Amino acid sequence: MQSFNYRDGELYVEGLSARALAAEFDTPCYVYSRAALEGALNEYQQALEGIPHLVCYAVKANSNLAVLEVLARQGAGFDIVSVGELERVLAAGGDPAKVVFSGVAKKASEMARALEVGIHCFNLESAAELEVLNQVATEMDKVAPISVRVNPDVDARTHPYISTGLKENKFGVTMDEALRMYQRGAELPNIDIQGLDCHIGSQLTELSPFIDAIERQLSLVDQLQSQGITIHHLDIGGGLGVRYRDETPPSIASYIEAVRTAIGDRPLQLVLEPGRSIAANAGILLTRVEYTKQTPERNFALIDAAMNDMIRPALYQAWLDIKTVSQRSEGEVLDWDLVGPVCETADFLGKERPLNIEAGELLSVFGAGAYGFVMSSNYNTRGRAAEVLVDGERAHLARERETIEELLRLEHRLPADS
Ligand code: LLP
Repeated sequence: MQSFNYRDGELYVEGLSARALAAEFDTPCYVYSRAALEGALNEYQQALEGIPHLVCYAVKANSNLAVLEVLARQGAGFDIVSVGELERVLAAGGDPAKVVFSGVAKKASEMARALEVGIHCFNLESAAELEVLNQVATEMDKVAPISVRVNPDVDARTHPYISTGLKENKFGVTMDEALRMYQRGAELPNIDIQGLDCHIGSQLTELSPFIDAIERQLSLVDQLQSQGITIHHLDIGGGLGVRYRDETPPSIASYIEAVRTAIGDRPLQLVLEPGRSIAANAGILLTRVEYTKQTPERNFALIDAAMNDMIRPALYQAWLDIKTVSQRSEGEVLDWDLVGPVCETADFLGKERPLNIEAGELLSVFGAGAYGFVMSSNYNTRGRAAEVLVDGERAHLARERETIEELLRLEHRLPADS
């Protein structure tokens, strides 16, 4: 099912018109489709049928409670990178036993909370972290399930800022270091070796880097087995790309098929951490043109969404499709730079976009469901956008627009006697 489509020249999100949503919730506003979220998760679950698996949605991609709840109700597990994300999963009704905890610098207090609620696995990223976890677990009289995240030194061929599996990256450990960590872990009474973990980057559009990484993981699994250390699950991370423009990433089904072939008949549970491939195309950002300004050099459309709402174009030169909410037959198509109110030249959502627009126009930024709202900030003292989840013909306000009062709430003026 196409969750975002045009009917009689008007954009719809499932059964509701984007224009009506903008009127009800104002702009800028993120709008997510429940059906699209469920559809993507379901694609993973169907492709994985018949093999033991756990799909741990990467909470960082879109951590709104309603989004997490939709996925939790459909059986998803979660990949978290902070205790904050853990509390979100719990608040959304997620099952802690299906949570994997990634991240390079987990604090002892974060480990303690994860042990208290009983997560599925800690993905460890250094030998030092193993020692701290063992200590925390010992103090709590618990046994911590672990995986070691290896850095397979595979080029994911994606944007350098979202590439994580090269040896110069801060993530994971070398194969040799992993081996030593497993040997050490096997000696520690409060550590329980469960899996082997890897994540090489995001927005991958080819299968071969994934498969190269998995093959390296598997050779370590075999090596460990020969030393009497059994790995029960293989966590292959996230990273599957989506189409924003003209990319041709593998489908979820063909990705899983290739993974299955690589694993062969080893009795391993497969753990996945997809974020973008579940959420990106399940969300749009609605924004309105406040003014137009035509200079001899450029046509600027000054919109009410800015880099604080959606930083991907400024940070990664990401290209997101932007269309008018209403398709118009009159008027002229010109190339527009879509720029926000923030005082930075990098504050744009799109450049030289052929559009037929005028002041007041509503625009939709597509592919905004992942790494959109979650990366937003209050720069320029702008309240964060509202988030709405559409389910058929119902719209649910999943997060209220931030008010100025809320923005100032945690700050304090000088003491009166100063
Ligand atoms: N697992 C780990 C350990 C990760 O670090 C990530 C993403 C994922 C899973 C999920 O990857 P995905 O399936 O979403 O590709 N802000 C950037 C993306 C950063 C990704 C960071 N790690 C962007 O907007 O493109």
